[in-house]
Amino acid sequence: MKRIVSGLLVLALILTSTLATAHEGMWLPMLIKRLNYAEMQANGLNLTAEEIYDINNASIKDAIVSLGGFCTGEIISDEGLMLTNHHCGYDAIRTHSTVENDYLTDGFWAMTRDEERTNPGLTAAILVRMEDVTDEVLAAMTDDMTEAQRAAKAKEIGDALAAKATEGTVHNAYVRSFFHGNEYYLFVYNTYQDVRLVGAPPSSVGKYGGDTDNWMWPRHTGDFSMFRIYADADGNPSDVSADNVPLTPKHHLPVSLNGVKEGDFTMVFGFPGSTDRFLTSTGIEQAINLYNPTVVEIRDRKLAIMKKAMDADDAVRIALASNYAQTANYWKYFIGQTEQLKKNRVKAKKEAIEAKYMDWANADPSRVEYAGALDLLNEAYAATDLTVKGEVYLMEAGIRGASLPLFAWRLGRQLGALSTSEDLEADKAAVIEYAESHFAEYQPAVDRELASALWGIWMENVSQDQLPSIFAEVRDSMGGDINVLVNYIYDNSIYASPRNLKIWLETMDEEALKQDKGGQLATSFIMTYFGNQQGNAEVSEKMNKGYRLFTDGVRQAMPNKTFAPDANSTPRMTWGVVGSYDPQDAVHYDYVTTIEGVMQKEDPNNDEFIVPSKLKELYNAKDYGRYADENGDLVVNFISNNDITGGNSGSPVINGDGELIGTAFDGNWEAMSGDIFFEDQLQRCISVDIRYTLFIIDKYAGAGHLVDEMTLVEGKKKRKKRRK
Ligand code: ARG
Repeated sequence: MKRIVSGLLVLALILTSTLATAHEGMWLPMLIKRLNYAEMQANGLNLTAEEIYDINNASIKDAIVSLGGFCTGEIISDEGLMLTNHHCGYDAIRTHSTVENDYLTDGFWAMTRDEERTNPGLTAAILVRMEDVTDEVLAAMTDDMTEAQRAAKAKEIGDALAAKATEGTVHNAYVRSFFHGNEYYLFVYNTYQDVRLVGAPPSSVGKYGGDTDNWMWPRHTGDFSMFRIYADADGNPSDVSADNVPLTPKHHLPVSLNGVKEGDFTMVFGFPGSTDRFLTSTGIEQAINLYNPTVVEIRDRKLAIMKKAMDADDAVRIALASNYAQTANYWKYFIGQTEQLKKNRVKAKKEAIEAKYMDWANADPSRVEYAGALDLLNEAYAATDLTVKGEVYLMEAGIRGASLPLFAWRLGRQLGALSTSEDLEADKAAVIEYAESHFAEYQPAVDRELASALWGIWMENVSQDQLPSIFAEVRDSMGGDINVLVNYIYDNSIYASPRNLKIWLETMDEEALKQDKGGQLATSFIMTYFGNQQGNAEVSEKMNKGYRLFTDGVRQAMPNKTFAPDANSTPRMTWGVVGSYDPQDAVHYDYVTTIEGVMQKEDPNNDEFIVPSKLKELYNAKDYGRYADENGDLVVNFISNNDITGGNSGSPVINGDGELIGTAFDGNWEAMSGDIFFEDQLQRCISVDIRYTLFIIDKYAGAGHLVDEMTLVEGKKKRKKRRK
C-alpha cells in the first residue's frame, strides 16, 4: 500500500513539474563525462565533453576566470575582454571613484585602451588542468591518526604535489579536500595579475533594485561590469606594467543574440565559494537558532550606523560602499536562509536522510564507526551551541566590526619588528605604505561609533568567560562603560589617526607601543580567537570525524544518487534549463523580465529605484536595436534551474552550442536554504540576459567598440521548440 501511494506521488510530481529533471550538482569539469550525457543532450547540449573541458585543445574552460578568488568572469573577445557582475567589480569601481568622478553613481567606460584602469592586487586565474589525487593523499593516512593529524598530513602531501605540478612553470597550484576529507583534487592555474577595469554601468542600472530586490525574483538588474586581462609579450602572467599587452586567450565565448526560451539548455561554469549540503539536522537547528540570528542582530546595528553616515556625506558613501554592500548582502542572506530552512522543512528532509544512513550503518557490524558518526556530530553541536554566539560576536563585532582592531593587529606586528630591523628605511616605508592604504578609506567618526555600538552589545550579550580580556578592564576600572575605552583608544591610539602614528614613528618608543590601548585591544581580540581554536580542539575532532564518516557513509547508503561535492571555490559546471516557477499557491513567476518592469518599479524618491534619464529616453523611443527579442521587447533578466552559489557571481550562462547567453548574478528568495538543501522545484539561478548587457554597453553608454570586439552569433534558426 505504502509503496503504491508513494509511486503515485512520484508520478504526479513528474507530471506536474515544469522542469523535467533535478539539477542539483556543481560538478568538477574533469568529471562531466561521468554525468548523464544522454540526458544533457536530450535537453539541448550539442557539445562533446572535450569541447567543455580538455587539457590539450582549446575548450570552454579556457574562457572561464576565477576573479580575485571571490567571483567568476568569462573571456568574450580574442583580446582578453572579460565580463563579470557589477557587484564583483564594485570595489574596483569604488577604488577609482571620487566625489568629483563618481563612477559608482555615473558609470565608467574606457573609450580607448589607455583609459582602462589598473587594479593592483586583483587577479584572474584560468584553470590549466586538474587531477584526482585522492589515492596519493589517503595512502598516507593511518587508522590511529586524529582528524587534526589527517588534515596536517593532507596539507603536507598536497603542498608537495602542487610544488611538483608547477616546477619549472609559471603556473600555481593547490590541492583541495572534497566530501569532508574523503577525496582530494589538484588544480593548476595560470594566474594573471594585471586586470584592468574597462566598463561599468551606473549603479542605477548595475545595482537597480538595491538591497530591496537583492536575492529576489522578479528582478530587473543590469548586474555586469567589464575588465581586460593583460599579460606579458609571451602571454604569461606578469605584475601590473605598462609593457603588458591584452591577453590572447586560448578560447573566448561567442555571444548569442538569440535569447532564451523556456526549457532551453543552460550550462553555468564558474567558481562557487561554499555550500553545506551534508549539514545534519542538528547543524540546521544551530544555524536557525543561534548562528544566523546572531549575525543578523550585529549586522543590523552595523548597517544602520554606516547608512546614516553614508547618506550624510558623499566621500563617506564612496569610501564605505563595498563594505556596506558586502555586509548587507550576507545580512539578507542569513535572514532568508533562516526563513526558508523553516518554510522548506529542511530539518525534516535531513532527518529522513539520516534515518536512511542509520539503517545502512546498522545493517552491517563492520560499519560500527559509521554508526557512531551522528552521535559525534550531535555531541559537537551540543558543545558549540554554548560558544557559537561568542564566536560570531568575535568575528562580526570584533574582527569585521570597526576597522581599527584588525589594522592595529597587523600594523602592530610590523611596528614591533622595527626595533630589530636590518633595513629600517625599507621597513618604515612598508609601514607607511600599509598605513596610508588603510587611512585612505578610514572614517574615524564612523569607526568610533561602530566600536561603541558593537563592542557594547558584545559585552551585553555574551557571557563573561567568552569575552576578550580587555572587556574585564572596562568592567573593573572603567565603570562598565565601553565608551571610556572606545574614546580613549580613538583619541590616543597610534592606530587611530595618521597623526598619532607619525608621532610614534618619530620616537619609536617600544614602551609606548606596548602600552597602546588600541594594540592591547587588538591583541585581546586575536588571543580570544586563538583561544577558541585551542579550546575547541576536542570538539573539532568530533565535528570533523563525524562529517568525514557521515559524508562517506551517506554516499554508500544512497547508491542511486550521484552526489556532487560541496562548493569550495574550485571550478564547477552545473547544467539546467531555463524555466518559470510557482513560488506559492496561485502564484506563477515567468522566466524572463523586461524593461517594462524596470519602468514599473521606478521611484525617483528611492535611490534603489531611480531610472537614469538616458535609459528612459531609450525606453520611450523603444530604441533597442538588434538587442530586442522577436516581439520588440527588451529582456533584462532570466532564470534557470542551475545550481549556483556565491562565488558563481559573474559566471557565464552558456547555451547548448557553447555560446554566451547571460551572466549569472543571484539566487531566489524562496530557495535561500539552497546552500544546505537544493530545492528541486523552487531553486533558480538569476542571470542578466546578454542582450541587455550589450544594449547598455552599446545604446546606453555609447561604447559599441567593445561589442565590435566580440564574436556575435545572430539570427540562427531556433533549435528547440518552446516547451509547454
Ligand atoms: N545576492 C548577490 C550575490 O550574492 C549579490 C547581489 C548584489 N546586489 C545587491 N543589491 N547587493 O551574488
